[in-house]
Amino acid sequence: MQFIKYLQAQGLGSRKLCRSLIDDGRIAVNGGVIEDDKAEIDPAAVHSLHLDDEALMVVPLPFFYVLLHKKGGYETSHKPQHHPSVFSLLPDRLCLLGIQAVGRLDEDTTGVLLLTNDGAFNHRMTSPKHKVPKRYRVTLKHAAAEDVCAELMGGVFLHDDEETVCADAAELADSHTLILTISQGRYHQVKRMVAAAGNRVEALHREAFGPWTLADLAPGEWCFFNPDAAA
Ligand code: URA
Repeated sequence: MQFIKYLQAQGLGSRKLCRSLIDDGRIAVNGGVIEDDKAEIDPAAVHSLHLDDEALMVVPLPFFYVLLHKKGGYETSHKPQHHPSVFSLLPDRLCLLGIQAVGRLDEDTTGVLLLTNDGAFNHRMTSPKHKVPKRYRVTLKHAAAEDVCAELMGGVFLHDDEETVCADAAELADSHTLILTISQGRYHQVKRMVAAAGNRVEALHREAFGPWTLADLAPGEWCFFNPDAAA
């Protein structure tokens, strides 16, 4: 890939700006300054990128995959209405490169949120056909007994549907904590399923999306991940 195109694909700015950064000898790759904008570069071989003395984030190309520990009080939208956007937790450069959330979490839901610029991956992860499991830790308003798990796995009606929706797995960790796995992604699905089973969600945390978990990411932190490594 031509060096100038690589810098543009990294989201560093227009062709003109990238050319002048190169011509002025301001960009170093793996510790060495490259002053030829037509130099060929292998994106996979770039481990560090510097602008003057500043280390820049190296964005995997052509696709990048982000795992964010979503905090409460953030909307999963590029155009939030009442709260800040989850995208404000990420570097602007990723937003310039067309990042989208893989499904949505409600403003008050915390936990695993995947984001990517890979539309095919996004579609695979969210399409009902692929049944990707999502595991939630649900804090319940009312004490629950074991029969709530059987009810959720047997299927409950969400008010606008003709068919029931079933959980893949449901287990009580204690009387007020339900671990619920679903493989659909309907609007407010967990809150509505729990309400249909006669309880109410007080807090909702997504522990896993497919094979991806938070590991040791603190709220608001994020990392790149490799979708092939986890699959
Ligand atoms: N189900 C919900 O009700 N809310 C979420 O944020 C995710 C799943």
